[in-house]
Amino acid sequence: MKISRWLVAVIVLMSVSMTASAEYLETKVNFSERLSSSAETLVVLVPADTQELSLSGWSNETAAQINRAMQVREFTGAAKQQLEVIAPMGLSVDRLVLVGVGTPSDLTRIEAEEIGAALANHVNSTKAATVHVDTSLVSDVAENGRISASIAHGVDLRNYRFDRFKSEPEPRPSQSYEWLVVSNSAAEAYYADLQGLANGVFLARELVNLPGSTGYPAAFAEMARAALEPLGIEVTILGPEQVRELGMGSLYGVSQGSQHKAHLLVAHWKGSDDQPIALVGKGNTFDTGGYNLKTSSASILAMTTDKAGAAAVVGTVAALAAERAPINVVAVAPLSHNLISGEAQLPGDVVTAGDGSTIEVANTDAEGRLILADGIWYAREHFNPRVIADIATLTGAKVGALGTEYSAIFSEQEDIIRTLRTAGENTSELVWQLPLGPYRNVTSSRIADRRNTGSPGAQAGALFLQHFAGDTPWVHIDMAGNALIPSASGIHPEGATGYGVRLLTEWVKIYSAE
Ligand code: BES
Ligand code: MN
Ligand code: ZN
Repeated sequence: MKISRWLVAVIVLMSVSMTASAEYLETKVNFSERLSSSAETLVVLVPADTQELSLSGWSNETAAQINRAMQVREFTGAAKQQLEVIAPMGLSVDRLVLVGVGTPSDLTRIEAEEIGAALANHVNSTKAATVHVDTSLVSDVAENGRISASIAHGVDLRNYRFDRFKSEPEPRPSQSYEWLVVSNSAAEAYYADLQGLANGVFLARELVNLPGSTGYPAAFAEMARAALEPLGIEVTILGPEQVRELGMGSLYGVSQGSQHKAHLLVAHWKGSDDQPIALVGKGNTFDTGGYNLKTSSASILAMTTDKAGAAAVVGTVAALAAERAPINVVAVAPLSHNLISGEAQLPGDVVTAGDGSTIEVANTDAEGRLILADGIWYAREHFNPRVIADIATLTGAKVGALGTEYSAIFSEQEDIIRTLRTAGENTSELVWQLPLGPYRNVTSSRIADRRNTGSPGAQAGALFLQHFAGDTPWVHIDMAGNALIPSASGIHPEGATGYGVRLLTEWVKIYSAE
């Protein structure tokens, strides 16, 4: 018994160490003020309204061919235009790719990332292993650094792969991108922070992509620990006994029917002495629904993503720590496994939450709010945060209302709503406010202090959670449906999106600077 436990721990740790850091950046990136040897593909960033394109070293014939191709394809350098010339005359490269960047100072971070993603997609469709990117036509030093780094970041985001369960994974081409930039130091400074962010997104994607029997609560917590501690983050993991001793019966009950019992993960990046910002993420590592069993095979299959809120807060602290952000932020992730057995919670059971209040479990499938109630309470009780943001794949009702492009946000604090909206626009992880009121008593219970269901569905979840935030400024983010995409799109490969990491990393910075 002892030995097999120890073996499991070793195996978990071994698989964990593979995910810890820059493993998923497939591309080697190098910024330089002078290009070294030659490459198979040459990419040129072209600003808007470029009529005549000529780079140093091009003969008249080369320039004539390229400019003719530009005319034929009506390529003007508008943002996101892409034009490939195969075997360009007089150049040693196999392919020349012109990439429009529009007016550089107007090019948004999102546009730059999408340009990078489209470029990666294109390069991956060829056999090129070496790529040069000439950015010299973007002459302003600061813009050149910002745009080059953001496009490189877009390449990275698109190139993540989840192939640990393939016995013969598609070979990951080892590509090297060499960027000809105006200033090395400007581009590198930008890129370093974005690499930290990319690793936070990859960590979240990795955790969300794990199947339910692989990424169970203890395994999730250990994987997070292995990735976070090397960044200087203080990680605390409470096991099921501690969860119970601390009175978190609402969190405990959801997993009581599973062999994988509740855990609570706390990850604290203390980048300053300010009052902390608390991020609480739903980490239900699988959602069968419990005795209110999910009966559609499509909906139950998607429930490997029910830990995406926890993955988002873990990825966010990883990103903030990687860039040594001077911010005090703590991620709290209640972790559960909503399964059935002879010991599982029954519909109608009453549990007692950490704050001492009682909850009627009117529906075992409304488990997210049960574990978040104790996660939010724990964050308040142990960290006295200035603000709490919880994020969760909470309700199907949210998907019905807003679909999968937006998450729903609920708060009574205008400054939180405003800053989240800005963060959403900056990262294209969009948010839309739904009202908390004037719904009253929608979660009142005949036999307990409150119950875990009510109508309208998304609001009832939010109103239930609001109680546990007490008088701490608070926002609830319902990201149901945003965690996974069936096929690659933009900066996202197929599978887990890592939704929430880019949004929350941006929001924490904006909110803490207010
Ligand atoms: N994890 C689900 C919500 C969900 C739905 C996430 C679709 C992602 C995509 C949640 O635990 C759930 O089952 N919610 C129920 C609540 C209901 C029983 C009150 C729902 O929305 O149907
Ligand atoms: Mn559920
Ligand atoms: Zn759920």
